[in-house]
Amino acid sequence: MITRKVAALAACAAMLSVTAGNAVAADTVEVLHWWTSGGEASALNVLKEDLEKKGVTWQDMPVAGGGGEAAMTALRARVTAGNAPTAVQMLGFDILDWAKEGVVANLNDVADQEGWGDVVPAALQRFSKYDGNWIASPVNVHSTNWVWINKAALDAAGGKAPENWDELIAVLDKMKENGITPLAHGGQPWQDATVFEAVVLSLGTDFYKSALNDLDPEALGSDKMKEAFDRMAKLRTYVDDNFSGRDWNLASAMVIEGSGGMQMMGDWAKGEFLKAGKKPGEDFVCIRFPGTQGAVTFNSDQFVMFKVGEDKQKAQKMMASAVMDPVFQSAFNVVKGSVPARTDVPNDAFDDCGKKGMKDLAEANSSGTLFGSMAHGHGAPAAVKNAINDVVTQHFNGELTSEEAVEELKNAVAAAQ
Ligand code: BGC
Repeated sequence: MITRKVAALAACAAMLSVTAGNAVAADTVEVLHWWTSGGEASALNVLKEDLEKKGVTWQDMPVAGGGGEAAMTALRARVTAGNAPTAVQMLGFDILDWAKEGVVANLNDVADQEGWGDVVPAALQRFSKYDGNWIASPVNVHSTNWVWINKAALDAAGGKAPENWDELIAVLDKMKENGITPLAHGGQPWQDATVFEAVVLSLGTDFYKSALNDLDPEALGSDKMKEAFDRMAKLRTYVDDNFSGRDWNLASAMVIEGSGGMQMMGDWAKGEFLKAGKKPGEDFVCIRFPGTQGAVTFNSDQFVMFKVGEDKQKAQKMMASAVMDPVFQSAFNVVKGSVPARTDVPNDAFDDCGKKGMKDLAEANSSGTLFGSMAHGHGAPAAVKNAINDVVTQHFNGELTSEEAVEELKNAVAAAQ
């Protein structure tokens, strides 16, 4: 018995030494990410398999938690311990914050050789480069102002997808009457904030930009902001009693099986529908959050390469290059629910929601209605984002009135800067 225990302990120790960052072999990349839901894992496999075909071994470091907050905490611990992973999934302002600390690698040689500068939109390059140097390779563009609706539930509620706030409320009311949970939602701060930013956008593109990108105190403290919170309070009435703490993919599952009518979530939700074998237009409908048509709040997952020993740099550069390959970008984003991070990838392989995503992005980019998602790290640095998330969540849970939330929001943003 004791010998068995000792053997088991030895096996554990051996496993631990393999998984510790120090033990990464030359052609191995250790990748920290938060893609742990079914749809996300399928997309991750596309990348893993692509690299493995090229002779690069994948060492997985998943840290569950939508939006990536837990992953960022895990990253801090690793870097502080002097043991950074090879590559890290990261969003917007977090990338720049890490770059400021001088711990990320320089990818200029791969980027220049492959002409990334010509094909990556400026809105993404703003975060892929620091001080003129490439430090990250963008794998996708997600957008957050989407609603995913169960088609049968929509048909039972009149069949017409809502195009403005009043129509949205009418459909939600009808779904309630029909005995389902109209709004499938997970009560976690980042999910509340994802809905909130769509609501803010639905009250005007200038309003979104001034409040959630420019952090203008006047917009943050305005009557319009009170209206945004009132709308959130209204949406709260369509959520079921068990929403607290629910993961986003479980809310997607409610819409997939029809106990929930719709989910207001970024297009990673589409990955869950596809993974469940559901088809856009037949089983589910994708629309822009009513009132936000023509505008896009985006976030882009980028792989930030950290400074690692010379022996690991070859695999690191191979990964950076593989991520930017146009054929890979198509294959990956078809599964992930996002759209390519390069402008030269054909849309043929994408379903109707994906094609719409690509078209909307290009149009918003040229008409000045493309904005960074606050909830997903592209509106302001993490300190401000977290301050906003806190207020939105407190209000959504009835701890603040709309008036109080407006005041808190203005003060919290000022204090976090
Ligand atoms: C990321 C997505 C991810 C989602 C939920 C977002 O912040 O950009 O890639 O699927 O969080 O985990």
